[in-house]
Formats: sequence, structure tokens, C-alpha cells
Amino acid sequence: MDISTTLTVNGVARTIELDDPRVTLLDLLRERLHLTGTKKGCDRGQCGACTVIVDGRRINSCLALAVSHDGAEVRTIEGVAERGRLHPVQEAFIAHDGLQCGFCTPGQIMSAIGLIGEGQAGADPERVREGMSGNLCRCGAYAGIVEAVLEAQRTLAAANRKEVA
Ligand code: FES
Ligand code: FES
Repeated sequence: MDISTTLTVNGVARTIELDDPRVTLLDLLRERLHLTGTKKGCDRGQCGACTVIVDGRRINSCLALAVSHDGAEVRTIEGVAERGRLHPVQEAFIAHDGLQCGFCTPGQIMSAIGLIGEGQAGADPERVREGMSGNLCRCGAYAGIVEAVLEAQRTLAAANRKEVA
């Protein structure tokens, strides 16, 4: 059975032919579009390594069927830097050592961008920990991750205030 699905991935419309309706969004991104920044950790919705943003919301792409998101806007780690400049969340992760091996980092960053975009980050470390609790880090870089999300939240809020003024 041949099925096609059309997604806008990092601003580019892509139509992909699938020979199996059970292909996950994660496998489509990694194996069909070669966007391997999105990681496959557990492949069962427990680690957050595969987090991407679909239509503005964070999801675990390993649990999402690609066909069920036909027509969606997908943002992956490859699409967050703009014009050669890292995203403020990426910069904050570097500044605060929010990583060690880096395997969980793309998912952490996408989750942080989603959390801040949802207006849920706030200035409270406990709230950030709770909001990021679906993203596991086997290296235990949590302290730096929380600091990074708090700083990125401040940077993005200040940039928004400037835009409004
Ligand atoms: S790979 Fe998707 S949650 Fe672990
Ligand atoms: S930095 Fe190694 S798993 Fe998080």
C-alpha cells in the first residue's frame, strides 16, 4: 500500500511516499529525510530524546505516526538556528554546560523551546524541572539544563519586550 504524507519541515514542504502507514514521525525524519539530529533513545515515549515541535506543541516523535500529522508544521533541532546564529536556547545550553555526551541535548533543546513558547517556563527552577521532566539525561546534566532554560527564558522575554516597545 503506497501512501503519501506532506509535512512542512523546518519551513520546507516535503511530500514523502510511505510503503507502511505505521512509520513513525521519528523514523520518517531520521531515515527518509536524514534529519538525524532528532535522536532515538527508548522508542517508546519514555526518554524525550525524540522531541520535536509539531504545530507549536512538543511531542515525542517516536509515538507519532507520520500519516496522522499530514499537513503539519514540524520543527526539529536542524531548524532552530537562524542565519548562522544559534537559537538563544542553544547558546544558553553551551553557556551553562547543559550537556555532557550530548545525546539527549536535541530533545532537551526542543522541549525547552516548546516550554518557553507555551509560556510555561517562568522564573522558578521547580517549574522548569517539572516542565522538562519528560526529557531524561543519563549523564545527569540537569542542573545546567535548568539554568540554561531559565536564562533562555529571560533572554527571549527581554527580546519580546524590545520588539513590542
Ligand atoms: S525515543 Fe521517543 S521518548 Fe524515547
Ligand atoms: S548529556 Fe548525555 S544523556 Fe544527557
